Amino acid sequence: MPRRPLDHPAGTAEAAVAVPGPRAGSSTARRAEALSLPPSPDQPTPLLGNLSPSQFMRRYWQKKPLLIRQAIPQIAAPLSRDELFDLAGLDDVEARLITHFRNKWQLEHGPFEPDELPSVKQRAWTLLVQGVDLHDDRARALLDRFRFVPDARLDDLMISYATDGGGVGPHFDSYDVFLLQVHGKRRWRIGAQRDLSLQEGVPLKILQHFECDEEWLLEPGDMLYLPPHLAHGGIAEGECMTCSIGFRAPSHSELTSQFLYHLAESGQTSGSAGDLYRDPQQPAVAHPGELPAALVAQVSKTLAKIRWDERDIASFLGSYLSEPKPSVVFDPPARPFSEQRFIALAGKSGVRLDRKTLLLYDRRAYFMNGEENSLANVKKWLPEFADNRSLSAKRFVTLSGDSSVTALLHEWYCAGWVQVGELA
Ligand code: SIN
Ligand code: CO
Repeated sequence: MPRRPLDHPAGTAEAAVAVPGPRAGSSTARRAEALSLPPSPDQPTPLLGNLSPSQFMRRYWQKKPLLIRQAIPQIAAPLSRDELFDLAGLDDVEARLITHFRNKWQLEHGPFEPDELPSVKQRAWTLLVQGVDLHDDRARALLDRFRFVPDARLDDLMISYATDGGGVGPHFDSYDVFLLQVHGKRRWRIGAQRDLSLQEGVPLKILQHFECDEEWLLEPGDMLYLPPHLAHGGIAEGECMTCSIGFRAPSHSELTSQFLYHLAESGQTSGSAGDLYRDPQQPAVAHPGELPAALVAQVSKTLAKIRWDERDIASFLGSYLSEPKPSVVFDPPARPFSEQRFIALAGKSGVRLDRKTLLLYDRRAYFMNGEENSLANVKKWLPEFADNRSLSAKRFVTLSGDSSVTALLHEWYCAGWVQVGELA
């Protein structure tokens, strides 16, 4: 289901390959599965049809689709139908209702009161709830399994609920997606067509001519990976729920305009404060409406002086990609523990990043929820915190000898960016 504007021309896709179900995994793989950890890069995993993440990235990522039978055996939907409906009623949750009644597509945006949704007995409707990982730890834990892809690319976990015959029509997306069946059955059809023209006069992006090359019925635990711009459509066979793990790919034009904005904000485009346009040589004019050529020449020289390097680009990308979505609101504790109490509790149960927190780093800096800071003083623990999204109690105790570490973690805890305790 499209969430972002198109940014690339249409591409072709190779035929999908069905990979058999899981073999008995190694003990490391089993532990990772149990803890919802991402598999390590060279560890074959049922999640990817017994390919390792490295093999998957090399062979399929951004290249061709992959059907994985029983990627997560015995999976249960992270949220029940009623919990999903409740979420769709909240103001800060992006929810859409798509109906296909009497052959007519309709789209409505939430929030939805439970009585605003059609009856679950009615056929052919779908509720899409975006960013479920921001609101539910079980959904966040499921998203975490896909962290073999850099966090900078990870977008969100969307859950769709559909009644029999429900779907969003044949379409294409401009991002990579894993479609994980978590309840009931859905028939997916895909096509490697080049013609991506869309139907006119419908409120959804639906392909004018969809040509199906392959189709599969996905059951709970099955998963389909699709690269960007591959035509697809899924239709529920009975009531079903699908989790869609999506990856963002900002367009070149978005990156360029945001980067220039970042440069301007950080004062790198303005020269010294007193610098003004000057024209002591301006002659009197007979055509006052004409733009002076000297003005254009002088401003061109000023703009040509703007310089940036890779550090500026990294600083921009870190801040931009760790910026929470506009709808995100953190929940700071109403009555936060004192730093002393926080240290005692974290020493017993560890700390973790709040599910809404975005934390990236590079060699020089770290970027937390859009804010950049130097890595110099936190180098020995912050990369580990960002990669694992938690610090165990034992690790916290080791680090707590340094009061600058505990003060910073306490500050983040008071802001609602960090929570006490590791995920169960
Ligand atoms: C998708 O096609 O991208 C997801 C749609 C759905 O889950 O219904
Ligand atoms: Co889609």
